[in-house]
Amino acid sequence: MSQEKPWAGRFTQPTDKFVEEFTASIGFDKRMYHYDIQGSIAHARMLAKQGIISKDEAQTIMAGLESILTDIEKGAFEFKVSLEDIHMNIEARLIERIGPVGGKLHTARSRNDQVALDVRLYLRDEVKAVLAYLDALQESLLAQAEANLAVIMPGFTHLQTAQPILFSHHMLAYYEMFKRDAGRMQDVAKRLNFMPLGAGALAGTTFPIDREFVAEQLGFAGVTRNSLDSVSDRDFALEFCGAASILMMHLSRLSEELILWSTADFRFIDLSDAFCTGSSIMPQKKNPDVPELVRGKTGRVYGNLISLLTLMKALPLAYNKDMQEDKEPLFDTIDTVKGSLKIFAEMIAQMKVRAEEMRLAAARGFSTATDVADYVVRKGIPFRNAHEIVGKTVRYCIETGKDIPELTLDEFREFSEVIEADIYDFVTLEASVNARCATGGTARVAVERELARARAERQG
Ligand code: ARG
Repeated sequence: MSQEKPWAGRFTQPTDKFVEEFTASIGFDKRMYHYDIQGSIAHARMLAKQGIISKDEAQTIMAGLESILTDIEKGAFEFKVSLEDIHMNIEARLIERIGPVGGKLHTARSRNDQVALDVRLYLRDEVKAVLAYLDALQESLLAQAEANLAVIMPGFTHLQTAQPILFSHHMLAYYEMFKRDAGRMQDVAKRLNFMPLGAGALAGTTFPIDREFVAEQLGFAGVTRNSLDSVSDRDFALEFCGAASILMMHLSRLSEELILWSTADFRFIDLSDAFCTGSSIMPQKKNPDVPELVRGKTGRVYGNLISLLTLMKALPLAYNKDMQEDKEPLFDTIDTVKGSLKIFAEMIAQMKVRAEEMRLAAARGFSTATDVADYVVRKGIPFRNAHEIVGKTVRYCIETGKDIPELTLDEFREFSEVIEADIYDFVTLEASVNARCATGGTARVAVERELARARAERQG
């Protein structure tokens, strides 16, 4: 077959071998083969409908493209670096297979609008995949919340014991974060869903094309409105990487908590052995590799966003070869996010909760001190004074090695006369949790309401 470049007419010397390798993108853009062929079929059909090529020519081209798709899927397609990218590899193979008529496919098209189309088609499907993985993770969080409704754990601020909370409440906090991440991904899908083909190299085309017809065949909501923008825009990739970065930040925070919770010091959870490894020297070790790696991979996803932003910064309109560098950060982000979500959905589903350990930890650290303060306030004492009263009470507890619920009524009354025997109804872990029953609070009724709501919105 001819390995001649499409631009050979203009050139007198062949491309330098190393330059060929340096400029090629086939090594990574071949993963878009399916979308390249899908786009080409829609384009060929449109060319025939508009009388730009004949119906027979379109049939031949489309059949040729289908057979190439089969070959690639069978692993029977040789990708050539000399043909630079996926677009030229497929076109060259088409011409080789069906003859010179294959050369008509590229009428009214440029690789600049072709690649813009391919990336959009590809990313549109990948966003759907990310959404499916996000959904599975949300389901795991929800299931853990439902299965552990009676479990009380310490809530932290500054990583210091603050107030007791329901473990379910903690799980639902992440459910909310991932719900917003899904919303951001849906926004990405909505804004990218416009069809750029027809922009040609940059200015449009002299052929009487029907862009709306192509858009409709490919399931786009409409066509892009400016040819220069169509071939220059990578906002959709940036938005995806931005949304992915926020998502990874959430996964990284959850990772950090799982790592802490599975230490011998916390002992709040057990991760399944399937997600951990041992140490080659310390026999007692079980390391939480998966959350550690996800926390680590968050760095590369942020890096990809910055690479892409830096790549696009200051590029003059319209297409510049720089933009070929958009793919690796985008693809790496997609792979990393999908992998992290997939493994997290499974790991959370299999996580064992140590209810007793959580409860013991919640009881330590005077976590019901705020409840005593609120009690004193309800008896008419200004909050600032109440804060001081309970501060002194806690200092007394520390000095005498007692916990708040263990104080006698006389001891309580040393600090404030307004305290009466009913104080003991307020300082248990359950009382503290269940007192916070307004919408969004940790009380069991409030958490049950949110669980029901989450279930309903997932079924609806
Ligand atoms: N492989 C190229 C890319 O990914 C396709 C577009 C090439 N266009 C060009 N004028 N060289 O950006």
